[in-house]
Amino acid sequence: MSVEPIRWRDDALELLDQRRLPREAVYVTCRSASEVAAAIRDMVVRGAPAIGVAAAFGMALAVRRGDSLDAAANELRSARPTAINLAWAVDRMLRARGNLAEAQAMFREDVEGNHRIGRFGAELLGRSATVLTHCNAGALATAGYGTALGVIRSAVEQGKEIAVFADETRPYLQGARLTAWELQQDGIDVTLITDSMAGHFFQQRKFDAVFVGADRIAANGDTANKIGTYTLAVLANAHQIPFYVAAPISTVDLATPNGAAIPIEERSAREVTEIGGTRIAPEGVAVRHPAFDVTPARLITAIVTDRGVLRAPYEQSLRRSASGDTDR
Ligand code: MRU
Repeated sequence: MSVEPIRWRDDALELLDQRRLPREAVYVTCRSASEVAAAIRDMVVRGAPAIGVAAAFGMALAVRRGDSLDAAANELRSARPTAINLAWAVDRMLRARGNLAEAQAMFREDVEGNHRIGRFGAELLGRSATVLTHCNAGALATAGYGTALGVIRSAVEQGKEIAVFADETRPYLQGARLTAWELQQDGIDVTLITDSMAGHFFQQRKFDAVFVGADRIAANGDTANKIGTYTLAVLANAHQIPFYVAAPISTVDLATPNGAAIPIEERSAREVTEIGGTRIAPEGVAVRHPAFDVTPARLITAIVTDRGVLRAPYEQSLRRSASGDTDR
């Protein structure tokens, strides 16, 4: 896999600018924690594990510049509110006093964990399967390999015949811009659909499984992910198709009891009223833009983590898997 969303070069953090994909692959260089926080806010880097790892390098940059680690931690932690990986990574770097080696370890652990998620998840797919995915939970959303797309990659590596349907993922179009591009790079069979087409294809029994990522998994298994995920879970349930969440254990937040307690980021109205910088809605119209929704645990067939495949009751399976982890 050649996509490198995050890299450390010449004492600086380089982030593949995901706002410009798939048109061009260019990097943004960050030399301070503030620059990393801005890159996270502005979606240069996005996806829960990726923003966690980027923030870890941001903490290392703060130490190298002699900036306040606490100030850097506050700025990075507040860059985006929903993905728990961000706060998790910042807290781990605070304990490591901003040591660069810790950020590098987190990078490696994320890639290794994704390969484990991939292997566990691939076992849930038959020799030949069509998988629906939403947003981008791929290499671009992590340090590499991906979570939901890691499962696809792993299944393909095992010789399974996997076709992917990617939802375009309005309004930010991570599916159309990023997932379609990333899978094409690997030569994986991908078909792009608009979000509104999903129900039609469920009805036609097109999908064997749904695999999505997660931004935060509450203690009871309720899962926040990109807006539109809940709709797919309801559809999967109505059509009795398995609905899987793939995420590293660092996405589990045992301190958040349920989905109602997960903060949902509201993003700019312009991301709804404009497409590619062109206005499509009338001036002055009221707009809402929650960037994430919560899928209740009862709609989730299994949660595929780097520590194994977890099933309901999630209170127990999540607690058992996440405990022994000193970070929570
Ligand atoms: O707003 P984004 O693009 O950061 O949202 C990303 C998602 O919702 C992903 O599905 C999630 O972070 C998991 S990525 C492995």
